[in-house]
Amino acid sequence: MTEALNPIEWKNDALVLLDQTKLPNDIVYEEFTTVESVWDAIVTMKVRGAPAIGVAAAYGVYLAVRNAETDLVEVVQKSAAYLATSRPTAVNLFWALDRMTAVKAPDATYKEALLAEAKAIHKEDEEINRNIGENLLTLLADGMGILTHCNAGALATSKYGTATAPMYLAKEKGWDFKVYADETRPRLQGSTLTALELSRAGIDVTVITDNMAAMVMSQGKVQAVIVGCDRVAANGDTANKIGTLGVSILAKHYNIPFYVAAPTPTIDLNTPTGTQIPIEERHKSEVIEGFGKLTAPADVNVYNPAFDVTPHEHITAIVTEKGIVRAPFSENLEKLFR
Ligand code: MRU
Repeated sequence: MTEALNPIEWKNDALVLLDQTKLPNDIVYEEFTTVESVWDAIVTMKVRGAPAIGVAAAYGVYLAVRNAETDLVEVVQKSAAYLATSRPTAVNLFWALDRMTAVKAPDATYKEALLAEAKAIHKEDEEINRNIGENLLTLLADGMGILTHCNAGALATSKYGTATAPMYLAKEKGWDFKVYADETRPRLQGSTLTALELSRAGIDVTVITDNMAAMVMSQGKVQAVIVGCDRVAANGDTANKIGTLGVSILAKHYNIPFYVAAPTPTIDLNTPTGTQIPIEERHKSEVIEGFGKLTAPADVNVYNPAFDVTPHEHITAIVTEKGIVRAPFSENLEKLFR
């Protein structure tokens, strides 16, 4: 077991991020002291994963205002609007920015209150994930094979991760279980991040390429699928990393429970169904140059949506820090917020 990597930290009056684009080869921490550099870190995915993006953006707002002398509220609003242009799909970004713009305090203590709010968002995320893990654990059993897609791990959050939280807890309990990590084309979060953090924790993890999931399921090696999410619509339709939809179809085919680990800040009751979730499209280079050399003709057309939407009918349960939500999702998700 090797020490856990901390993707996001507030240290010496600066935001310190682990540069996830360099993993698993190099462990490089970088300091961020301007809102522009935080925006860039989100866009280039030095920091990524819905909860971590929200936390980083919250600190970004504080960084924008901390040296300002006048019009502090305006600076906060403008920087929040600017950060909101970084990535469109994960609703945690907008949720965290809304919390920052809602901070009210007298001028003399406003900056302090903003930093305190960013730290609170950061800390709450850690507590949320542990509770998600405990709830998910009640759906799992010793000896299982679990398949996950992308990285909804500790590297995507403040601690524990969401989809990985029950894995860390199961390890603590001494369970014997096996994790299959989809490689997750095109950015390879499954192999570069999930495999890295789970193996550092001493968890039995096996990387498979995305097109191997069907074979592995057909061989009876998977008893549960657990994925994270970037936005859950009011009816339960769930946006997550591209490829999640395919995994959900396979899980349905092989009668394997499909669980979504969802912190309540990722649930967006203002988005009625998955159709209204904005899906980020990223640069073609991720698809054809991701391995350090061209893997297709440079001028070929490429379609690179970063997320897809799993219809709620494919989801066995949405597991939140407040409890396990099952169909009918519209009704039961709404109850969580009452
Ligand atoms: O593009 P990414 O790496 O930010 O996408 C990450 C995911 O899709 C995760 O599954 C999701 O954000 C949940 S992280 C707890």
